[in-house]
Parts: sequence; structure tokens; C-alpha cells
Amino acid sequence: MPQNACEPRKDSPQWQVPRPFLKWVGGKGQLLHRMMPLVPCFSGVYHEPFVGGGALFFALQPSRAILSDGNLRLIRAYRGLRDQPREVIRRLQEAPYDKDYFNHQRQRAIDADSDVEVAVWMIYLNRTGFNGLYRENRHGRFNVPFGRHVRPLICDEPNLLACSQRLQHAQILHDTFESVESRARSGDFVYFDPPYQPVSATSTFTSYTSRGFCFEDHRRLRDLALRLKRRGVHVLVSNSASSHVLGLYEKHFEIHEVQALRKVNCKREKRGRITELLIR
Ligand SMILES: C[S@@+](CC[C@H](N)C(=O)[O-])C[C@H]1O[C@@H](n2cnc3c(N)ncnc32)[C@H](O)[C@@H]1O
Repeated sequence: MPQNACEPRKDSPQWQVPRPFLKWVGGKGQLLHRMMPLVPCFSGVYHEPFVGGGALFFALQPSRAILSDGNLRLIRAYRGLRDQPREVIRRLQEAPYDKDYFNHQRQRAIDADSDVEVAVWMIYLNRTGFNGLYRENRHGRFNVPFGRHVRPLICDEPNLLACSQRLQHAQILHDTFESVESRARSGDFVYFDPPYQPVSATSTFTSYTSRGFCFEDHRRLRDLALRLKRRGVHVLVSNSASSHVLGLYEKHFEIHEVQALRKVNCKREKRGRITELLIR
């Protein structure tokens, strides 16, 4: 019997339940209690084409999953941790919390190195950088400054092992979100968590990758969600509560408003509670 995806697995002891190993902008950890009741009872595969930190995936622990993202370094970090967790842990345990070391890592050209190296690099910078944030500039360079943390936990060994164990059941792909169309079958569940449509012209963070995500991408995503729905695929979409997003979805989908705490914004006054949408 496939795992009932309506509920997180109950057979793992609490200390083994994985949490995202990367803090990711737009991560859904704080909204899980609102999302879980909207997750369908599905019998097929779980797809997350904008996986980011994978908060819903790690909470649901589906028995079969295909995770993908347009950020190649992120995907390589997932694969490095899935395939060689002990090596990732050993390397992270040796890494010091030190500004010079951080700046050296930040400038490193990482893309020619192994998946394990990419995993260590990304987790280290994520744990020690400002606000625990991943952001690239237009040239694909990681551009977050050193963070002021008090003794950051650079290597959370039990959680890294639990994440790696959970990822053994997942295919991990570097792909654009559209590619889910050829993989998803009736009875599967697709969770789309795209970079959000800005609520206002001054909203800032959209750059998970050097490419960005525009309104035309949101329109293509809505059309894809509709085609999947018509084929019997369960769909859940997260987005900002902007009038543009409502206009795209309100005729065809059920819309739920939720309150989220926005912690990552370069402007202090723009951090705080905001309304977001869960669309299914
Ligand atoms: C809001 S985040 C996902 C957050 C995730 N649900 C979590 O809990 O951490 C959006 C993700 O979409 C990815 N992305 C942006 N454009 C994309 C595209 N065209 N195709 C696939 N992934 C894309 C980004 O790299 C980023 O990881």
C-alpha cells in the first residue's frame, strides 16, 4: 500500500523527522499547519517543481517523489547530501565560523566541483551568511554578506542524516517547472511554490537564480495547473495575495488566504505579517 500522503509518517522517532537542511527564501515551514489540511489523499507520486528548501516534502515524507528546481547548485546540493551524507557532515564539522573563511568560500568558483562540495558549500554559506539566505547576482555569483550569528550550528548532523535518508526515495532533477507536465499522471499530487508575483512595484526579493520569474511565467504556470487538474492530477499552488494572482486563478480554483511571517526583506519595515494564497 502506498503511504497515505494526507499525514506525515508516524513511524519515525521525533528526532529523525527531517526539516529542510537549507533555509530558503519563501520556505514554507511556518505555513505547514495551514497547508496540511489542503493536501489531498493521493495515491501516486509527489512532485515539487520549485523545491527550494522542500519544507512540504520533508513534512509529508511521501513514499515516491520527484523534486526539481531551476537552480542547479541547489539540485546538486540535494544530490550530494542524498548520496554522501557522511562526507558532507565530516567536511562541515571541519568548517570554522570565520569571516575570512566565509569570504573565501563566497568567492569560490564552485560549479566545477563535485556534488558533495556543492552541498558543503551551500550549507556552510546558508548557515553562516546574513539572514541565512541564498541569493545570486546577475552573473550567478552568491552575494550574501557574512552574518552576525552567535555560535551558528553549521553541522546539524541528525537532521542531515534524516534528510539524506528521506531523499533516498526521491528523484532529484534540474529542470524548469513546465517539465512536470510530461511526468505527472492522474492520481499524482503537484505542489507549485514559485517565486511570488510582487504585490507592489517596490517588493524586492525575486532572485533565487540569475534568471528571475515574470508575470508571463505566472500565466504559463496557471495554464499548466489547469491542464494538470483536467487530467486528474491534484494541484496546490502558493503565491502572494496580489490582484494579478487572484485574477489568474479565481475562476478555476479554490482560494485560501493565510497569514505568513515575512522574515527576509532587506528593509526592516517590510518584515512582518503578510497575506498569502493557497490555491487548489
Ligand atoms: C518560493 S521558492 C520555493 C520554496 C520551497 N517551497 C520551500 O519550502 O523552501 C521558489 C523556487 O523556485 C525556483 N525557480 C525559479 N524559477 C524557476 C523555474 N523557471 N523553474 C523551476 N524552478 C524555478 C527557485 O530556484 C526557488 O528555489
